[in-house]
Amino acid sequence: MAQISETVNDIIMARLVDASICPSHVAEAMNYAISAGGKRIRPTLLYLTYHIFSADGSEESLFRSLRPEEVYMAAIEMIHTHSLIHDDLPALDNDSLRRGRETVHVAYDESTAILAGDALLNYAYEIVCSEIDSIINRQDLSVATSVTLSRRMIRALEVLSRKTGISGMLGGQGLDVQLSGSSITNSDRDYIYKNKTCALIEAPLMIGGILAGLDDSEVSRLEEAGERIGMAFQVQDDILDIYGDMEKLGKEIHQDQRNEKNTYVAEYGLEQSRDYVRQQSEEAITIIDEMADESIYKTELIELIQHMISRDR
Ligand code: IPE
Ligand code: IPE
Ligand code: MG
Ligand code: MG
Ligand code: MG
Repeated sequence: MAQISETVNDIIMARLVDASICPSHVAEAMNYAISAGGKRIRPTLLYLTYHIFSADGSEESLFRSLRPEEVYMAAIEMIHTHSLIHDDLPALDNDSLRRGRETVHVAYDESTAILAGDALLNYAYEIVCSEIDSIINRQDLSVATSVTLSRRMIRALEVLSRKTGISGMLGGQGLDVQLSGSSITNSDRDYIYKNKTCALIEAPLMIGGILAGLDDSEVSRLEEAGERIGMAFQVQDDILDIYGDMEKLGKEIHQDQRNEKNTYVAEYGLEQSRDYVRQQSEEAITIIDEMADESIYKTELIELIQHMISRDR
């Protein structure tokens, strides 16, 4: 896993925005947030899923040599980082520590944080669109190959935009903020978790599968696995907000209570939450196990999902 983590991190860091293009602090603040690290879970899920399912064959190996997954890995981490910068703003969760550093609105100021979040979201699409454009226009691809590859990349782009926007992460964040401080129904909580967190975990699994050439029903199964991983991930995040260690997490704890969030843990307690995390993770592993042939990438993916249950950061 150490080797994969390094590879994933290198892919992201190679695509930082060139801060010299912008005389304001905004580009610098974008890179400040991205280069602070983080667990890089979403791009790692994309990388592993793509490599599990990408097959051999001449067309496939040509596609593989273009490394179509890399730009989506960077894009999903940028969009995730945008969600964190905005999540930490005073108008949302009002946090001052993230990834072991001052949050962007503390290190810079609020206007810079708003703009850096917006700019990261937009830059993610800029790099993906420019990659699609350059692949479509390659002279060494046959028309048939070019059509197959561009269809996959556009389909992946559709998933990326839907799962991160109002039909996904931003929709969930909206209701999360709106219902802070009031009692919520189980279906509201499900909606919030499924969208604010699961959507950004479903997306990399689905995009990895789409780029590897999986059909719609297989991609739907990956979406299902992503939902289970996302539910486990957010409930574990809620557990760590109460019982975790600020140093290890690199973010403040007890924020959910302060912000009057009706989390799964607040509703059901620690034991039931732990059981839920375990059960959701096991269901995700079963789906992956049934779908994928044995490979080093499959082993790594299953280990990553297992690790998420016991994580302390
Ligand atoms: C934090 O995500 C937001 C949640 C969905 C709980 P991560 O825990 O993946 O944050 P980083 O990327 O490692 O900082
Ligand atoms: C945030 O959930 C999910 C996002 C889309 C950012 P939280 O508000 O629980 O995430 P943390 O605990 O601040 O990382
Ligand atoms: Mg939040
Ligand atoms: Mg938060
Ligand atoms: Mg949290």
